[in-house]
Amino acid sequence: MEVIIRPDADQAALLVARVVAARLRARPELVLGLATGRTMERVYRALVRMHAEQALDFAGCRSFTLDEYIGLGPDDPRSFHAYLARHLFDHVNLDRAKAHLLDGLAADHGAEAARYEAQISAAGGIDVQLLGIGVAGHIGFNEPLSALRSRTRAKALSPATLRQNAEAFGGDPAAVPKRALTMGVATILEARELVVLVTGAAKADVLARAVEGPITAMVSATAIQLHPACKVVVDEDAAARLEGQDYYRWIFDNEPEWAPFRG
Ligand code: F6R
Repeated sequence: MEVIIRPDADQAALLVARVVAARLRARPELVLGLATGRTMERVYRALVRMHAEQALDFAGCRSFTLDEYIGLGPDDPRSFHAYLARHLFDHVNLDRAKAHLLDGLAADHGAEAARYEAQISAAGGIDVQLLGIGVAGHIGFNEPLSALRSRTRAKALSPATLRQNAEAFGGDPAAVPKRALTMGVATILEARELVVLVTGAAKADVLARAVEGPITAMVSATAIQLHPACKVVVDEDAAARLEGQDYYRWIFDNEPEWAPFRG
């Protein structure tokens, strides 16, 4: 794992977008795992800008979205389907037929999860998976005590997550769907590369646990420590509680792989 500290949220998100763009340019048929949430909005803004200004081409790209609320369809503006249309799909040339999403209205959650896993396998697996970390310590919607070997399935959301995501539901945690379909921790770990973005002082504690704490199912984000190619990009506010800050900065300043991204 590498932790990259950027001065602010905009620069952290821009670095993530530049990594995605580099991977897409190197492999136009990239299989990209998409996350939603407020943190990712800046990444999608940067990718949309790169598409408009630098001809970043999504035509061959295939995508898989991490999760979806159970009970919300694509027409509901609060669904992750609608989020991705709003922030990415409507503004780039990604073929909608290649944008895979979990169906929050599926009657049989087990069958929907199995269908999704099969689609990921048929695509040859995910090349780059974008991730945020929730205040509950989750990646995807893998809430506390999610098995580290879990696969795509329905999951109950924790009270902390309901509070975190209440804004889109009029500020009322009780209005947030109580369950979601989510890629499992093992599904996520099978991606060939993980790119995690965490910003803001409110995430400083959970980031320190995820990156430097012991691996535990209580904080599914700690599972990223098991991944052989994981980049965690953070801003100064989120980095505040990291013990290894000096070392992480040294790596970014000295490792050749980061040279193209330093400017
Ligand atoms: C989103 C997702 C979540 C978020 C996390 C952070 O698809 O699966 O894990 O990445 O909850 O959300 P924000 O960025 O809104 O703080």
